[in-house]
Amino acid sequence: LNRSAMRGSTLMKEVKEKKYELAKEEQRKLREEKKTDTAEDPFNQQQVYSRTDMERRAYMGQSSRFEQWQKENKSASLGKRTDLSIAQQRETLPVYSMRSKLVEGVRNNKFLVIVGETGSGKTTQITQYLAEEGLADKGLIGCTQPRRVAAVSVAKRVSEEVGCRVGDEVGYTIRFEDVTSAKTKIKYMTDGMLLREAINDPYMRRYSVIMLDEAHERTIATDVLFALLKVAAQKRDDLKVIVTSATLDANKFSTFFDSCPIMQIPGRTFPVEIYYSAEPEMDYVAACLDSIISIHLEQPAGDILVFLTGKEEIDTCCETLLERMQVFYDQGDTPELLVLPIYSSLPSEMQTKIFEPTPAGKRKVILATNIAETSLTIDGIYYVVDPGFVKINAYDPKLGMDSLIVSPISKAQANQRAGRAGRTGPGKCYRLYTKSAYEKEMNPNTIPEIQRQNLSHTILMLKAMGINDLLNFDFMDPPPVNSMVTALEELYTLTALDADGYLTQLGRKMADFPMEPALAKTLIASFDFGCSEEVLSIVAMLSVPDVFYSPKDKRELADRMKAKFNDPTGDHITLLNVYERWIDNNQSKIWCQEHFIHDKSLRRAKEVRGQLLKIMSKHKHSLSSCGGNIDLVRKTFCSGFFKNSAKKSSEESLFKTIIENTPVHIHPSSALFKKTHAEYVMFHTLVLTAKEYMRYVTKIEPKWLVELAPTFFQVANPQELSARKKAIKIQPLFNKFDEQQTWRISKRRG
Ligand code: CDP
Ligand code: MG
Repeated sequence: LNRSAMRGSTLMKEVKEKKYELAKEEQRKLREEKKTDTAEDPFNQQQVYSRTDMERRAYMGQSSRFEQWQKENKSASLGKRTDLSIAQQRETLPVYSMRSKLVEGVRNNKFLVIVGETGSGKTTQITQYLAEEGLADKGLIGCTQPRRVAAVSVAKRVSEEVGCRVGDEVGYTIRFEDVTSAKTKIKYMTDGMLLREAINDPYMRRYSVIMLDEAHERTIATDVLFALLKVAAQKRDDLKVIVTSATLDANKFSTFFDSCPIMQIPGRTFPVEIYYSAEPEMDYVAACLDSIISIHLEQPAGDILVFLTGKEEIDTCCETLLERMQVFYDQGDTPELLVLPIYSSLPSEMQTKIFEPTPAGKRKVILATNIAETSLTIDGIYYVVDPGFVKINAYDPKLGMDSLIVSPISKAQANQRAGRAGRTGPGKCYRLYTKSAYEKEMNPNTIPEIQRQNLSHTILMLKAMGINDLLNFDFMDPPPVNSMVTALEELYTLTALDADGYLTQLGRKMADFPMEPALAKTLIASFDFGCSEEVLSIVAMLSVPDVFYSPKDKRELADRMKAKFNDPTGDHITLLNVYERWIDNNQSKIWCQEHFIHDKSLRRAKEVRGQLLKIMSKHKHSLSSCGGNIDLVRKTFCSGFFKNSAKKSSEESLFKTIIENTPVHIHPSSALFKKTHAEYVMFHTLVLTAKEYMRYVTKIEPKWLVELAPTFFQVANPQELSARKKAIKIQPLFNKFDEQQTWRISKRRG
């Protein structure tokens, strides 16, 4: 995937802008034509959804059919059938009719592919059927999920159905959280966690059945598990592997697993009417809000599901939506719209809210990330609003870095999203893109993660499993060779691999930490630098969602409170300050409120810290503090994140990465935003929105780079041509550095 393809969203926007004028013209013509057309083809007219029309009617408050609908549906029979017992609910699921066939299928085959619509009961039921039929007697039934939220919510639901506490017969394991016990028979987990288990138990001896759920998502972990489980099941006669998918790529899965049988769960879906935007939307967020309000004011009862790209976008939309609805409430007589966000970093009590049935006479709108596309089934959705974008973690081999980018969805995803509207009854899907964008611009299928993401973490794990021959590894879709090479190089510069590509002792230790290699290296390095207490806290803080919040009406105060923690060296130490002040203040909730900090996130950080400490103590490291010598902490981070370094450019507030000279900016949330006179900085991640932003930025001294990553950076000889340096593979990248100057810096500081 090249850089321009990954910048799909920006690109698409540019193209859109150019096309915009043309489209307008086309639309005008179309409308002209339609004057004669519509009578003959009413369907065609319906397909082109004109927001402005709906909007106009909505704002004029004409004929709210909602009210009438409310009267007709006092019993609120939409959504989950709360009138049915749990046993009855289970029996109404489509998968129930297949129960004995499925159990027999698993008994008689090593591998089995199961295809069924989202919501047909695959995830919650199949594990239970197998356990009820005694297949969990000799080993666990494991079920993997690409997403943490799904693993947790499904485990909760199934415990409820089984009638046990979560962690007893039914449990879950996600990163930094293990809610299972000796009693556990059904275990839900993220695919990443099962992959981690394979390091110590490649044949999965604890399991009798493993279900790779949501295989169509094609996450890296699931893709690697395909290959590992294929070998494990060939070695072990008593291991059964099930692969489930919501889409029809089943043949490919079956072919990979020795042409195993495919079972199809009969669908139970209702037709969904699709509406397209008449013109490309210049601002999909605004278009989204307008559509939600129009649906609420215009359309019969039924909940709304909206797909947005991330937490910030969702939070802002929720806020704006509530404000705009207030205007209607003030005018009186508008039914209440319950606004509920859902994304993976949302606290779990908030997450479960989306599953609660909507009270009669109200409507629910759920603003979700891609999480609601297939992983979560929410009942009662009649309307879907789909702007057509998704945030993906894409790796840029040229930049040598991961970054989160907003990119257009595939056709397969668009259809999945639309399908969410047809589970409870006939529904409607509003696509905020044109029909021609859907037909001509979208990829037919989503590109597997393994072909677009950084592989260094995965390769480190494979190496730790003793798998060295990566070129002949049985990938269903092999990753591009150059992204494997980049990953190997990265691991080499982190000294996790030696020059022959074999795992070093450090590399083996790094593989034990469930995090990106650079972060794992930082943690381990902190022992040598004598600042593990501090680094542990910062790493824990970096592993939880942003701790700060800023309510719209108190933004200034919140910003001032936040500034109190700011450290002149940057965000890493700022995070440390927050954590330490919280501990000093006895982890007080009130203190958190006063400082506009989510106390949940801090408590979570403390848990993560404890988990990391456990892994550390396995390696017999004891903690030590640098006692205020924070330069050591910065240096430690530099030893893991030296690749994420940038140098100030001549232009105001602009930095350029040292590796590729990519222009990057300090994120507005940073302690260094508009304050820094730093020449060199390192950053934790890049986020691409309007610009490429560095998140969590800290000042560094350039000599550290040379000192801590000698295989990567070299002090330049001013006599040598830089072009020649660039030709040498691993060492070429740092050559603008003047040795004399280092000396001066170190002298002054020393
Ligand atoms: O896996 P699949 O998409 O086929 O369906 P499922 O997740 O097993 O969901 C089956 C049914 O369980 C849904 O229709 C929901 O009614 C219910 N469910 C729930 O109430 N709460 C959850 N967290 C998950 C599922
Ligand atoms: Mg499922």
